[in-house]
Amino acid sequence: MSEQPQEPIQSTEQQQEKKEQIVTPWDVDAGDDGVDYGKLINQFGSQAISEDLLERIERVTKKPVHHFLKRGIFFSHRDMHKLLDYYEQGKPFYLYTGRGPSSESMHLGHLIPFMFTKYLQDVFDVPLVVQMTDDEKFLWKKLELEEAHRLTYENAKDIIACGFDMSKTFIFSNLDYMGHLYRTVLEIEKSVTCSQVKGVFGFEDSDNIGKFSFPAIQAAPSFYTSFPHIFPETAEDKKKQKKTKRKNDIMCLIPCAIDQDPYFRVTRDVAPKLGFQKPALIHSKFFPALQGANKKMSSSSDTSSIFLTDTPKQIKDKINKHAFSGGGATKEDQEKYGANLAVDVPYQYLQFFLEDDVQLEDIREKYSTGKMLTGQVKGALIDLLQKMVAEHQERRKKITDEQVKEFLSVRKLSFTMPTKKEVVPSATTEAKKE
Ligand code: TRP
Repeated sequence: MSEQPQEPIQSTEQQQEKKEQIVTPWDVDAGDDGVDYGKLINQFGSQAISEDLLERIERVTKKPVHHFLKRGIFFSHRDMHKLLDYYEQGKPFYLYTGRGPSSESMHLGHLIPFMFTKYLQDVFDVPLVVQMTDDEKFLWKKLELEEAHRLTYENAKDIIACGFDMSKTFIFSNLDYMGHLYRTVLEIEKSVTCSQVKGVFGFEDSDNIGKFSFPAIQAAPSFYTSFPHIFPETAEDKKKQKKTKRKNDIMCLIPCAIDQDPYFRVTRDVAPKLGFQKPALIHSKFFPALQGANKKMSSSSDTSSIFLTDTPKQIKDKINKHAFSGGGATKEDQEKYGANLAVDVPYQYLQFFLEDDVQLEDIREKYSTGKMLTGQVKGALIDLLQKMVAEHQERRKKITDEQVKEFLSVRKLSFTMPTKKEVVPSATTEAKKE
């Protein structure tokens, strides 16, 4: 069955006419009320992450879920239950995420998927592949090929600084790795038509032909055959595949921002035709710009973003000057009515980065009822981000060119193929055992 949503993604112009929220891999514009994520789930045809799923993840990983999950920052998924079934049955899976290297310095929003991917790698102990789409940025932006390639290496340092385990992580530049990827890319290209990608991505006949084939390149790492050095196939595997017309049972889980979903709808559509498992997905909300939640943070706007290269003073000034406040217009108003947290950017940033639930709840209660002023909340955020960004810079500085090369080199990864998990069905059976 096709996974395309009822209506194809419309071009920006068409959507603006109807004043609908625009969410494509290239453009996010939500109108004044912010992105309606519930509506997006319906539009895209994904599943909301339920309490049940969170509980199940905790049961399977035997760890509390990441605060991004608890707080609904990762809010939508495809096939997570199937992935967990497989995991419990002792079948292997791997993680796949990526980054389009279009700017020298990444901003806070870019960290979200990588911080979350690091958590997933830690709790599931699985291999991770990271695609650097220097080719994509060349095709879409005014960027020279060699510059895009250089940015891959610059950005790779920021990704490595998130703490990934080198023995389980492979980062690759499309420009460098295409020879290895190409067989899988071709299989996909042969199964997807121009009218399909036009329908999903809104490409026009006047767009360059590289764009038309790029979805196959972003899709390919979802299939394990793109990484023969990580997932080698034996002669026996190949014989079996010929008979059954099915590839090995290796699933892929893709953590990404929800705007990347169109690529993976196409991927999931072609997967069964090629004998692969469909990749599972877990989607995040966007990280809001300083000016407000109706735009996502963009690296092309200096005052809308906090960069990973910012100094403590820049961070302080940007938050004080530009962070949109939902607090009362005057001290008296704030004390009387409290803040509107739904539009308050400092509070929203704290939800992303302040891990301590108790502290966050304290701020929520006091700020929303007027017992705390915007300036104090901004102060708490400034302290937190100054520390976080400085620590990131410290870690990044220590990464050598040799280490980057190693992460990007085609090599075996060391991970143990999983075994059947001891399934612990519920808390009550746990209690009975004791
Ligand atoms: N297209 C993404 C970007 O522009 C990069 C990317 C490639 C990616 N593969 C991915 C993102 C897989 C998430 C998951 O940033």
